Amino acid sequence: MPISRPRTNEATTGRLWWRDGVVYQIYPRSFMDSNGDGVGDLEGIRQRLDHLVWLGVDAIWISPCFPSPMKDFGYDVADYCDIEPLFGDLGDFDRLLADAHARDLRILLDWVPNHTSDQHPWFLASRSSRDDPKRDFYVWRDPAPGGGPPNNWKAVFGGDAWELDEATGQYYLHSFLPEQPDLDWRNPEVVRAMHATLRFWLDRGVDGFRMDVIHKIAKDPELRDNPLVPGGEGRGYGSQEHVNDENHDDVHALLRGIRGVFDEYDERMAVGEVYILDPRKVSRFYGDGDELHQAFNFKLTHARWDAAEFEREVLFFDELVPEVGWPNLVLGSHDAPRHASRYDHPEHGDGRARVAAMLLLTGRGTPFLYYGEEIGMRNVEIPEDRLQDPLAWTLHPKVSRDPERTPMQWEDAPKAGFSTGDPWLPIGDTAAHNVTAQRDEPSSLMNLYRELLALRRESGALRRGSLRALPSPDGVFAFERTHEGQRAAVALNFSDAPVEVSLGQGAPGRVLHTVHGAALPDDLAKVHLPAASGICAIQG
Ligand code: GLC
Repeated sequence: MPISRPRTNEATTGRLWWRDGVVYQIYPRSFMDSNGDGVGDLEGIRQRLDHLVWLGVDAIWISPCFPSPMKDFGYDVADYCDIEPLFGDLGDFDRLLADAHARDLRILLDWVPNHTSDQHPWFLASRSSRDDPKRDFYVWRDPAPGGGPPNNWKAVFGGDAWELDEATGQYYLHSFLPEQPDLDWRNPEVVRAMHATLRFWLDRGVDGFRMDVIHKIAKDPELRDNPLVPGGEGRGYGSQEHVNDENHDDVHALLRGIRGVFDEYDERMAVGEVYILDPRKVSRFYGDGDELHQAFNFKLTHARWDAAEFEREVLFFDELVPEVGWPNLVLGSHDAPRHASRYDHPEHGDGRARVAAMLLLTGRGTPFLYYGEEIGMRNVEIPEDRLQDPLAWTLHPKVSRDPERTPMQWEDAPKAGFSTGDPWLPIGDTAAHNVTAQRDEPSSLMNLYRELLALRRESGALRRGSLRALPSPDGVFAFERTHEGQRAAVALNFSDAPVEVSLGQGAPGRVLHTVHGAALPDDLAKVHLPAASGICAIQG
């Protein structure tokens, strides 16, 4: 099999794709179903690549597409080196990769290093007997002296983090579902075996990985209890301070080992899901440029629609990320309610989604877009009998992540142009949001995304410039980005009233307004912004 690599690279273009580029996350079950079984697949993604090229993104990240019993929809991997039959096979993957690379689109896969499926052959062997050579691939412990789990750790998805295996009389650790046993990264054989799974795909030509809950791979070696949050009784996972069950300092040595694998190849990248809502801790995952290329900052997925809060969070992370690193901007994912719904306001239509798009695509750092946000997809209400996400059962139907995982709305049709079969989740409001209609409508949100992506591609200031906040009235986040004599000035009006802002002086140069057809300013000293709108001006 010939190895597929993209046409361009840093040597020929002077451009490191993941620093300059924009990543688009695809949840493979929901992007495009090519065989009518109601679940998206790799061939479906391949058929829709031209949408991504038209839009102007640089890379796609595909949530796990490996063989899996789907207890957590692919985040329970039964084989790291193959493709889940629902999604296709290795031949489909190679075709997708080659076609993507032919279009200069990179592909990131989703690596799940903290845990496997309980159906992974390693775990089947591990639980078969205490003496099995794979026993130590996982974290097994005797019951506590008086019986019961070895310590007080809780699973993120509810209940204790320990499951008793009756046959061998020991408990195994699972940070998530009992069907997702945690690997023991303190075992050098696990490290070697997991590095080999990375090489399998890097050898095949993939451009990098998103790394699932990477901060969890190192725990306290003595497995000490977590301290309790005062007054936190009854709050399950939230009742403890997670000081011993994740983010042990040894994680950094493990990350350096993983980075070593990446550095055997050219221009591959690793972005880690570091789900710790403390940017100071997250920024440590960049190391001295020898750990992750990127660590997700999820603070914005929790931010209120408030200019001061966005400004604070964006600037804080920007300052924390070391020189050798590069920040990122994330507003949505398969784990977070869609931002168009989070920030919805009855009077503004797509206004706030447009401001959010401008923030993502003009800020400093690699933007990560979540499929469907370009057409303003909202959370879809899921009737109780159609809920799929295990969190609906283990925690509460209200925390189900299904609403943000519904099929991509390609057209205004009952099955949204996603499938000819019965879609695995209900379809959202296709009349209000679909690709086909928005493509033809110059004022659509999708065309704004496209224009923003084009502007970013053309502007050195937007791709690489430094970031500095500009003084602005309450309710507005304004900033400038400068690079090699070019200046981008951006003002985002989060408020529900029109405002006037000064973004500097002189002719504004090339301007993009989130409101299609809005009057553009003659001078940056006086910029009028309607409620829930934003402007970006490039000088030089
Ligand atoms: C990550 C994934 C999430 C998954 C969990 C367990 O947080 O993003 O979808 O359920 O890890 O693997």
